[in-house]
Amino acid sequence: MPDLRPETRLMHTGDRESPHGAVVPPLYQNSLFTFEDWDAIDAAFDDRTNAYLYSRLGNPTVRLAETKIAGLAGGERARLYASGMAAISAAALHGLSAGDHVVAVRNVYGPASTFFDGYLREKMGVTTTFVAGDDVGQFEHAMTERTALIVLESPSSAVFGLQDLAAVAALAKARGVRTMIDNTWATPLFQKPLAMGVDLEVHSCSKYLGGHSDLVGGVVIGSADDLTSISVRETELLGATMAPFEAWLLTRSLRTLPVRMRQHESSGLQVARFLEGHPRVRIVRHPGLDSHPQRALAERQMTGTTGLMGFALDTDDLAAIKRFVDGLRVFRIGVSWGGHESLVYAPVISMLKELSPERFAALGIVPGDVRISVGLEHPDDLVEDLDQALALARM
Ligand SMILES: Cc1ncc(COP(=O)(O)O)c(C=O)c1O
Repeated sequence: MPDLRPETRLMHTGDRESPHGAVVPPLYQNSLFTFEDWDAIDAAFDDRTNAYLYSRLGNPTVRLAETKIAGLAGGERARLYASGMAAISAAALHGLSAGDHVVAVRNVYGPASTFFDGYLREKMGVTTTFVAGDDVGQFEHAMTERTALIVLESPSSAVFGLQDLAAVAALAKARGVRTMIDNTWATPLFQKPLAMGVDLEVHSCSKYLGGHSDLVGGVVIGSADDLTSISVRETELLGATMAPFEAWLLTRSLRTLPVRMRQHESSGLQVARFLEGHPRVRIVRHPGLDSHPQRALAERQMTGTTGLMGFALDTDDLAAIKRFVDGLRVFRIGVSWGGHESLVYAPVISMLKELSPERFAALGIVPGDVRISVGLEHPDDLVEDLDQALALARM
């Protein structure tokens, strides 16, 4: 359906072929596929990235969601994984060999940072240099002869900083270095990194792509060559494939992605502007605000913004921060984001348990920082909820 808009294609791609004209394609909840005869299974082995043999390698329900996501992102192929971290680790291992060097954005998702700087160093002698990422020169400066991969997350889900994707991708290509991006914040609807020259795009499907806080999953999107290689190596050998039921739920969610994202965008901006005007709020971090230091870049490389943002309360007093968080009635307290429900999380909670104050400060986060995920409730209710909780905090 090449002449249709992405939203329409997302709805219909692959659905029209459903048996019996079923409007919702069936759930193939099976581990294996059987064959009429020797020649048929022999042919399937020869084409095992396309044929269905065994659900760790491929399953029609999983393939349908992969096809829809690949189409939306403008990639040739996609592979779904059991979590966003499984997608990140598969994409990273695909591009790395023992002793390689990685340049990564400092504020990549925490476990991804530990995977590069801790796990891969210990297991494969891979070293990682972290950069702020707001200037392409930082990447150039950090690269060595052993650099094999640049890891981006734009906007980052911690401090909402951006990288110039086209410029970093061009630099990497000129040096024969591969690039991957965590595009979870913007979704493939609002940002198309593959068209800007990035090699691999990954998402946690547990956020906006799933959208209902009822599944954990991840996806890698890219060229047919890369994805064929990932399919027979990282997918088949590490085995962290998405299960059919999760993929079936994901296809359900993809049908409403454009509608949900437009609401997350407008409610997110309404909440961000309210917070920006509040005397008890020091700073609001949201790439859709004119006050965001990289607003021009955001407009250039994204067609929309979403509902996850950070803001700093005008206090470092833990008791006041706690009063604010506990005072919220509509927002629920939790770590994830991108679902239908609004959530609040104070990074200082994990700082006190896991990170030194110095490491925390190096990430650009202050104790009064709060992260909220604006869901699909009426935005006026969310603003009123924040307003009354800010009053309760008595800063
Ligand atoms: C930006 C980002 N990337 C990746 C992940 C990891 O995804 P998952 O929890 O599905 O493994 C998360 C999870 O919070 C995230 O916020």
